[in-house]
Amino acid sequence: MLMVMEAQCNNLTLRDTSSSIKSLFFRISSLDSDSYIALAFSSHLFCLKGFIVFIMYRAAASRLTLSKDNGRTLGAYRFATSRGLFSWLSGDSSTSHPPLHTPLSGVSLPPSLPDYVEPSKTKITTLSNGLKIASETSPSPAASIGLYIDSGSLYETPWSSGASHLLEKMAFKSTTNRSHFRLVREIEAIGGNVGATASREQMSYTFDALKTYVPQMVELLVDCVRNPAFLNWEVNEEIRKVKAEVEELSNNPQGLLLEAVHSAGYSGALAYPLLASESALDRLNGPILEEFVAENYTAPRMVLAASGVEHEEFLSIAEPLLSDLPSVPRPEEPKSTYVGGDFRRQGESGGAHVAIAFEVPGGWNKEREAIVLTVLQMLMGGGGSFSAGGPGKGMHSRLYLRVLNEYQQVQSFSAFNSVFNNTGLFGIYAFTSSDFVAEAVDLAARELISVASLGEVSQVQLDRAKESTKSAVLMNLESRMIASEDIGRQILTYGERKPLEQFLNEVDGITLNDITKIAQNIISSPLTMASYGDVIHVPNYESVSSKLVHEPTPLACCSFSDLNVGPISRRRRNNLGWPRPPGQFITRSCASIQEQ
Ligand SMILES: *[C@@H]1O[C@H](CO)[C@@H](O)[C@H](O)[C@H]1NC(C)=O
Ligand SMILES: *[C@@H]1O[C@H](CO)[C@@H](O)[C@H](O)[C@H]1NC(C)=O
Ligand SMILES: *[C@@H]1O[C@H](CO)[C@@H](O)[C@H](O)[C@H]1NC(C)=O
Repeated sequence: MLMVMEAQCNNLTLRDTSSSIKSLFFRISSLDSDSYIALAFSSHLFCLKGFIVFIMYRAAASRLTLSKDNGRTLGAYRFATSRGLFSWLSGDSSTSHPPLHTPLSGVSLPPSLPDYVEPSKTKITTLSNGLKIASETSPSPAASIGLYIDSGSLYETPWSSGASHLLEKMAFKSTTNRSHFRLVREIEAIGGNVGATASREQMSYTFDALKTYVPQMVELLVDCVRNPAFLNWEVNEEIRKVKAEVEELSNNPQGLLLEAVHSAGYSGALAYPLLASESALDRLNGPILEEFVAENYTAPRMVLAASGVEHEEFLSIAEPLLSDLPSVPRPEEPKSTYVGGDFRRQGESGGAHVAIAFEVPGGWNKEREAIVLTVLQMLMGGGGSFSAGGPGKGMHSRLYLRVLNEYQQVQSFSAFNSVFNNTGLFGIYAFTSSDFVAEAVDLAARELISVASLGEVSQVQLDRAKESTKSAVLMNLESRMIASEDIGRQILTYGERKPLEQFLNEVDGITLNDITKIAQNIISSPLTMASYGDVIHVPNYESVSSKLVHEPTPLACCSFSDLNVGPISRRRRNNLGWPRPPGQFITRSCASIQEQ
């Protein structure tokens, strides 16, 4: 049986391809013999130009003799014909065997699985100290466990700036019970994987291994988070690595600009850098980390989440390890205000990187808006001009069709977002040759304005974006690690895990009007710009900001051409033009500079 399916090609390299093609042809030719056919299952995957061609065939397991002369059959287990495996191609039908679509007589088939299998529910238990333990079961043999903490660079002070990033690096180092060496050995002895990430709002520590080892996994994870030793030499070693990483940031302009839009766009806690400056890192040491952990890693701000574990079992293992954490009331989230601003930095990068961004008011707290925003991002899409392409790569997104396919000078153009508890950023990132940067910024402004104008987005595009959003979310949630992360982060944000059906229904209910409304809402906030590389030709803040002036009349139609003569908004008058010499950090917003 030969089955050819088109799908997205992800991991297979070209070398794998040729070797598996070779072995496939070898096997087929050895199979295609006239007198002996042997049966069993084997499958081959190979990848060609972005497609996976999936070929399944049956190969030798038992030698069944088929006589070519009389075509005598040997029971029901005949799948290959005496004319050879490829006879279906030439349209020949087998002379000696019934075709595959003919039901075999005397075989009763079991009923097929129902179309809808109810997923397991997420169970949540809150301990008396406020810590939440949540889990869902899964049929897979592995389990994924994570400890999620409502802490991050948002909670840092000038004194502890950089602590969250350093804590990410210090994860799974020596604890007061175990040396780093013993930890690594214990993790490897059970074939597990550990990881830690720091973000502005949340920390995560995860452990992934087979279900049998859940007790060891929980104990080790809790030990690492609760009892870090912060040995001097380990801390210094990691500070050195963090510094190297910060220096390397110029090799990652997209990461640099993402940091920059936060530090330029916000005043207050969200403006604190996740990647701290070198002088801040010099100040950090073990005692500062200890204090940060003691004050910020408190029970009501923690969630222990698992995918693939029975809740009762999980609780019986985890509760004794966590119930003695002191209960400190959850503090108010530090305040941040979106102000908008401009950041420029001259650097060697063979072109110009620019990002323009706006505020998404409400962040995750405005749940419906956050979902519309996800669909809007899918609708705009974008990517690099050297994409491998192929179905499913988002080649029909607006930024691909309208920008990347039209302008050779644009090397990368994509919509991005960064959403927090009650605010967020949405914008477009572009990388172009430096002489085209002014046009690229215009194009970015044009694209944002067009999604904010009724009639510009078609129903077909919206439907495609909605389907892509649903399939991306559902496919991601099939990953055990993502499921456990989703449980942890949702419970930190909402205190519960929202049912998936609710999300899918919300997506289905999104209309063209919703998209227009949220896009208008976004671009009516002050502009944030960030650029890196050859920034001399990047247009000034004022001129870009004035292009994005959009009349706040709901669902008004407006085209790009009449924007240059559009009305002057409050925002425009608030923002004073400010000389921005290239090669310097300008992280303050124009508005706040003017106020001082
Ligand atoms: C780790 O140390 C703490 C005290 O520092 C102790 O309560 C706990 O039982 C120890 N855990 C293990 C696994 O030894
Ligand atoms: C987090 O820890 C720092 C100490 O490094 C402290 O100043 C800050 O107040 C803590 N934040 C909260 C919300 O407890
Ligand atoms: C998120 O914001 C809401 C409302 O502003 C607040 O009640 C909640 O505590 C915040 N969550 C976190 C994790 O700070």
